[in-house]
Amino acid sequence: MSILNLWLYEFWLLILSSGLNASFLPAEEDVDFINEYVNLHNELRGNVLPPGSNLRFMTWDVALSRTARAWGKKCLFKTNSYLDELNMVHPKYNGIGENIWVGPENEFTASIAIRNWHAEKDNYDYENGNCTSECSHYLQLVWNNSYKVGCAVTPCSRIGHIKHAAIFICNYAPGGTLRRRPYNKGLFCSECGSADTCTDYLCSNADRDEVIYYRYWYPTWEKPRPLICNPVCILTFILRLLCFILSTTVVVLVQKHFPNILVEQEMYFTPDELEESKDRKLKEEKMQKV
Ligand SMILES: *[C@@H]1O[C@H](CO)[C@@H](O)[C@H](O)[C@H]1NC(C)=O
Ligand SMILES: *[C@@H]1O[C@H](CO)[C@@H](O)[C@H](O)[C@H]1NC(C)=O
Repeated sequence: MSILNLWLYEFWLLILSSGLNASFLPAEEDVDFINEYVNLHNELRGNVLPPGSNLRFMTWDVALSRTARAWGKKCLFKTNSYLDELNMVHPKYNGIGENIWVGPENEFTASIAIRNWHAEKDNYDYENGNCTSECSHYLQLVWNNSYKVGCAVTPCSRIGHIKHAAIFICNYAPGGTLRRRPYNKGLFCSECGSADTCTDYLCSNADRDEVIYYRYWYPTWEKPRPLICNPVCILTFILRLLCFILSTTVVVLVQKHFPNILVEQEMYFTPDELEESKDRKLKEEKMQKV
């Protein structure tokens, strides 16, 4: 029966986890949401000022958006503490970049958040390469090497002084080191790699821009863990089902064909006999000690 309980528990978890998405914020694999933020990233990157010669085109990456979701669930306006650990935030890339926006849930759109980061451009002087105040989000947004992006927005009951907050996180691969100018000044696409083509004023490359769907990868530190049934899990489920059916059948058959199997005389102890024998043992032990 414990197996059945386990199943019910898993089923319940499934219902619970599907209920958690009942917010009006977009899910991280919502196609319109993905198109909105990927296109806006490319639009802003293609139109940098001064014009850039070596910015790469960006495409979506599911693992980056899962990492964004996992960190967002913590509802902390802080850098993801796993970013510098090997293989903790992506199955393929290390050195991931991150931008975070926090605001009231009912005011969130991906466009508002990303344009907010982009507005930090006013704090950045390309000519001398200095920031007058916060500009790291802008630098990551227009960092020339980055070509994968994945974002997620998560509702939080409270972050800082904001009630009913939303936390929007974008992760980038490769991430910007932010220790130099974010791109080279010059005619767009004039410094792309030799195998690259020019798309929307950005350097693109079919191999590099291929979208890989890491079906079973998700951050190991994500809590609560999402229910993901990979082939091993499906196999386990089927095996459990078979075992359950088999054991039930065996019990029924045995009981039917050997109705007296449990009525062997020596298998029974009445509670009195048990108590007596215990008492006797205790007494014997005491005697020995004495
Ligand atoms: C920019 O940085 C350079 C070198 O780090 C420094 O000499 C200069 O004063 C800075 N300019 C401004 C406007 O802060
Ligand atoms: C990005 O810019 C840096 C600094 O100018 C340069 O060394 C690097 O090759 C650029 N990356 C690409 C992909 O063009």
